[in-house]
Amino acid sequence: MRFYFDNAATTPIDERVLEVMIPLMRDGYGNPSSTHAHGRAVRSEIESARKKVAQLINATPSEIFFTSGGTEADNMALRCAVETFGYQRLITSRIEHHAVLHTSQYLGEHGVELSFVELDSDGVVNYEHLESLLKEEKSTMVSLMHANNEIGNLTDIQKVSDLCKEYDAFFHTDTVQTMGHFEHDVKKLDLNTLAASAHKFHGPKGAGFIYVNKNKRIPAFIHGGAQERGLRGGTENVYGIVGLAKALELSYNEMNEDRAKIERVKSRLIKRLKEEVEGVTFNGMSGDLNNSLYTVLSVNFPERMDKDMLLFNLDLKGISCSGGSACSSGAATGSHVLAELDRDENQAAVRFSFGRFNTIEEADYLIDTIKEFDRVNA
Ligand SMILES: Cc1ncc(COP(=O)(O)O)c(C=O)c1O
Repeated sequence: MRFYFDNAATTPIDERVLEVMIPLMRDGYGNPSSTHAHGRAVRSEIESARKKVAQLINATPSEIFFTSGGTEADNMALRCAVETFGYQRLITSRIEHHAVLHTSQYLGEHGVELSFVELDSDGVVNYEHLESLLKEEKSTMVSLMHANNEIGNLTDIQKVSDLCKEYDAFFHTDTVQTMGHFEHDVKKLDLNTLAASAHKFHGPKGAGFIYVNKNKRIPAFIHGGAQERGLRGGTENVYGIVGLAKALELSYNEMNEDRAKIERVKSRLIKRLKEEVEGVTFNGMSGDLNNSLYTVLSVNFPERMDKDMLLFNLDLKGISCSGGSACSSGAATGSHVLAELDRDENQAAVRFSFGRFNTIEEADYLIDTIKEFDRVNA
């Protein structure tokens, strides 16, 4: 039996999503660009999916463009906006996902001035510093994520959007960790672009979308055919798109229930870890249930608990979780996010992240396993 606590890396696909994808994989083989009946049937599936996604986030269908996932949507937003509108400067933070950070660095190497907003010792954005940067007279794009994938910090994206409007800056946000977990309303947010990815809300991998506010269109990112209204050429990932829309619909319909269930799991872990494993602390804001992403808990284990041994032992006992972040856990270099925090580097950081299928019983098994490891190895 295995226990999955790595939902920030990816979530298991929901059976109900598979149920709409599989028949389409079998029978919906027409090319959506073909004008015959096979093609038209598939085209109509894509457009229904677009309509559904638009409806859920309060956009219009013409503002939704399907992509291969969050990384592509982030690249598209940053590169297209900067290259099209000629922004002199890009403001971002040092704890963005690499999809944003590395794209920013690329743009920095190609003449765009990079500014990093100050963060406090828990990685929280300093909004006053952001405003002081925006006050400088430079044409600017801002890219700040809604929730951090490693430490669960939440950015007040409404506030950032309001500031960007006040100072006439372009605002992109990476909502890959919050789409399907929070009710996004793009009309209310009134931002420029937003990135999302289906595999983070129990949908398929390789499918995501970018929302592009119709008031400021961006040009083609992938040159080719006229797919996605010319923004992204290439035959559409039909099954992925339909699965994405179904997964997002389920997430919205069941959001309150799922959230309550996941919060019970997270708060049980916080409580038991604090009370039963001496020396445990939490990274960023993740230990504060009311002020962090409810699906992520980043834990520092005391020095007596060797990180590699701990992760190895948890894996052996059937528990999948991540050392910091999935993106960095397999790499030789440590996490760029944890490096920005005021924390003891000798402590083992482990990220546990939750989804709709986690239970209290699993949380208890996890704590019991950690306690047993501590008892035997410390
Ligand atoms: C915050 C954030 N942005 C972007 C991505 C990349 O998304 P994708 O895997 O769909 O390319 C991830 C994935 O881990 C993420 O957590």
